Amino acid sequence: MPVVPTRDILARAFAERYGVAAINIVNDLTMDAVLAAAEELKAPVILQTSVKTVKQTGLDVLYAMWVEMARRTTVPVAIHLDHCPERDVISACLAKGWSSVLFDASKLSVEENKRQCIEVVAEARRFGADVEGEIEGFKRTEDMTGDEAQHVQSLDVVVDFVRETGVDIFAPAIGNAHGTYKTAPTLDSQRVTDIVEATGKPVALHGGTGMTPEQFSDLIARGCAKVNISTALKIAYMQSGFDFMTEHPGDFDPPKIFTAQHTAVKEMAKHHIRMFGSEGKAW
Ligand code: 13P
Repeated sequence: MPVVPTRDILARAFAERYGVAAINIVNDLTMDAVLAAAEELKAPVILQTSVKTVKQTGLDVLYAMWVEMARRTTVPVAIHLDHCPERDVISACLAKGWSSVLFDASKLSVEENKRQCIEVVAEARRFGADVEGEIEGFKRTEDMTGDEAQHVQSLDVVVDFVRETGVDIFAPAIGNAHGTYKTAPTLDSQRVTDIVEATGKPVALHGGTGMTPEQFSDLIARGCAKVNISTALKIAYMQSGFDFMTEHPGDFDPPKIFTAQHTAVKEMAKHHIRMFGSEGKAW
């Protein structure tokens, strides 16, 4: 299957109310493992790259890896740039061939965010790419105070932002955060319904690691078609390497540890794909 526009992958998921796993990969091994999981389960998948990964690996190398690995897959795949406040990185990724970008101007005023987001959407369209927008920003789980769901913009502000900018996906704050929750978060799921009904656009669920299966099903049924997972991959990748070395002290043969890590990341991805209901949804 060729690389499919993010909007096409999400349109089906949104219409049928399943969630597409959007998983942050960090290198070639994790990219391959997530694609292998999607392939095994016949699921569409979105690979996400952070700005840090783009800079660390280098745009050209990362993209070359993607093209080669995507070419071997038979399921619909897209590559997405996660939280990016840097316009030059957005432009470079769009020009290179990324399927979609999240323009993260949540630290700016809504008006300035909107002004710049309109430019980003126009730029993305020239490359046939899509844009995710956000106006509230997400905390790290360790910085949560418990009242996150109250510090959000009004529905009118959200609807105006989505309409004026023309973003394809919106990422609302609903009490979610990035990292490892101490306990399952209290989420304002009604806010997802309100936004979806008012905008007709799919919602991106951030901070997926650590939410319960019930929370995922509920939010996906309300229109969270893109479900972001990052911390779970980091844990699977690093912990499996640590476990391998603990169980095999002195075994410094790299391919063995890589195999253990690949299996752990692939299983983590399969677990989430199944939980989000996208198994067998490839076309
Ligand atoms: P987690 O790290 O909590 O899984 O969140 C992922 C995310 O939302 C990436 O944007």
